[in-house]
Amino acid sequence: MIQVAPSLLAADFARLGEAVEIVNRSDASLIHIDVMDGVFVPNITIGFPVISAINTIARKPLDVHMMITDPGRYVGQVRDAGAHIMNVHWEACTHLDRVVHTIRQAGMKAGVTVNPATPVEFLGDIISELDLVLVMSVNPGFGGQKFIPNTISKVKRLREMIAASGSQAVIEVDGGVDLSTAPSLIAAGADVLVAGSYVFRAPDPVKAVADLIKLSEA
Ligand code: DX5
Ligand code: ZN
Repeated sequence: MIQVAPSLLAADFARLGEAVEIVNRSDASLIHIDVMDGVFVPNITIGFPVISAINTIARKPLDVHMMITDPGRYVGQVRDAGAHIMNVHWEACTHLDRVVHTIRQAGMKAGVTVNPATPVEFLGDIISELDLVLVMSVNPGFGGQKFIPNTISKVKRLREMIAASGSQAVIEVDGGVDLSTAPSLIAAGADVLVAGSYVFRAPDPVKAVADLIKLSEA
């Protein structure tokens, strides 16, 4: 069954606690938190004090998506803020193998994220070390963007790579996910769907999460 990770980026930041409570009440598997530095991506969002505050009330594991340069500098702080999964970008790490091992040694699950123009094949020599691969289906930096259809074939190729390598990595997809784009992602082999605008702009976000999950039951 597909898992859903609502992205708090689309929540009303003046009511962040209420958004976390909504995710708590829903059938979501994770809470997705987008950290941006204004360098790796052209936007700045939230940092460690806010993640720690979310962690005090969250009843779902925190999936922290680091859209920052050289994220290996912050492994300890991400762990101390309460992250369950730390996602770092392939494009942002010169020494990816070291960063992945540091994340795992810190007791978190290690995720590697690829931008839309980065082939999943670039993960071939590290796939067996990963707990998760996050495939970006928009260019990172902003919520509410249009889904890039090429993502479907990337997820299929990644699914084959994972099967061939015996890796335990799960496949997560982030950007432009809604009821129209999710079915082909599920068919292609995605395990976790991140959804921001679709969930938090819905009249009933709890139902919106349930509706996404139902797609994989059909
Ligand atoms: C984009 C972020 C996403 C974003 C997705 O850089 O990584 O997590 O919140 O937003 P939607 O679901 O609105 O495309
Ligand atoms: Zn994200």
